[in-house]
Amino acid sequence: MSLPVKTALKDALLDTASELGVNLSDKEFKSALADLNRWLRREAQSGWVQTRDGSLTLIHEEYGEPYHSVTAGAVRECVDKFVKPSGILKKARELEEISILDIGFGLGYNVAVALTLLKEVNRNICVRIISLEKELPNKVPPLQGQFGNYHGGLLENPDQLRDEGISFELMLGDARKTIGSIGNFKADVVFHDPFSPYRNPEMWTYDFLRCVKEYMKEEGVWVSYTSSLSVRSSLYELGFKVGSSEPVGRKRGGTVASLKAPIKPLNKNEKQKLLNSPYACPMRDPHLNWDYLRILADYRLRVTLRERELSSARRKGI
Ligand SMILES: C[S@@+](CC[C@H](N)C(=O)[O-])C[C@H]1O[C@@H](n2cnc3c(N)ncnc32)[C@H](O)[C@@H]1O
Repeated sequence: MSLPVKTALKDALLDTASELGVNLSDKEFKSALADLNRWLRREAQSGWVQTRDGSLTLIHEEYGEPYHSVTAGAVRECVDKFVKPSGILKKARELEEISILDIGFGLGYNVAVALTLLKEVNRNICVRIISLEKELPNKVPPLQGQFGNYHGGLLENPDQLRDEGISFELMLGDARKTIGSIGNFKADVVFHDPFSPYRNPEMWTYDFLRCVKEYMKEEGVWVSYTSSLSVRSSLYELGFKVGSSEPVGRKRGGTVASLKAPIKPLNKNEKQKLLNSPYACPMRDPHLNWDYLRILADYRLRVTLRERELSSARRKGI
């Protein structure tokens, strides 16, 4: 992903508008373009950084984003935004085996933290993990302390983990392609952890989430750090119950979703936003092959159409 020049953003909007047969007013065009510019703006920093809880993370050069929340702390994010809200520690007391679908293996922190905590709760639990990852970084900052053991094992010799009842499979490549080859697998939990929806939109579309749903048990729980209205609206449309996790290191909590498992519902304010915000509509990628700019331009035009619908409903007093 390289930062597009302004003309590329304009072209993407104009091309998509003409494909969808949408005539944009000057005001609508400017507002859409301003959003695209804002969504794709990024910091120039790259390399390893220390996060709030002392653990390290990496800033991805192309995406211009850290692999973990710097303000929350990398390990704290794994524990409080992924492992705990997913409910797997409770399940580990009741089940003999837990299956995890990990989307965006990255530095392997979520998986290492989950394994450590699962084994603390139930030493005999068997864990099956499938991780999807486009590209591993050259050098990974190692996790320290209690999490270091599994982290090292995952990166250096995952086969050895089999002795402890842990099977780990890393599927490298664009997850939109690799997810179809997962085979016979149903997850108790999905850690959905790509970069943010505006930088990495192909991982957050309705169409990709529909594939993810295929690999979940009905009682399975999907967790992510994002509170994106677009992502939440896709999950709703796919038939999930959608709730939130506690905020960690910022005002808004993450998202928790399940087809059947009980989850903490969204609060009134969050529900209102889903109903009333023009941004609460799915990103689309119908053939799972659009580039990120096409997905964003298409989404931003859907936002314009929703703005028109919402303001016409307001005028009619609906
Ligand atoms: C926020 S990082 C994940 C952090 C990781 N969960 C951890 O705990 O260390 C996002 C990851 O998603 C991966 N990613 C982005 N787009 C992808 C794609 N199309 N297919 C597979 N992985 C992708 C990136 O390469 C990156 O490693």
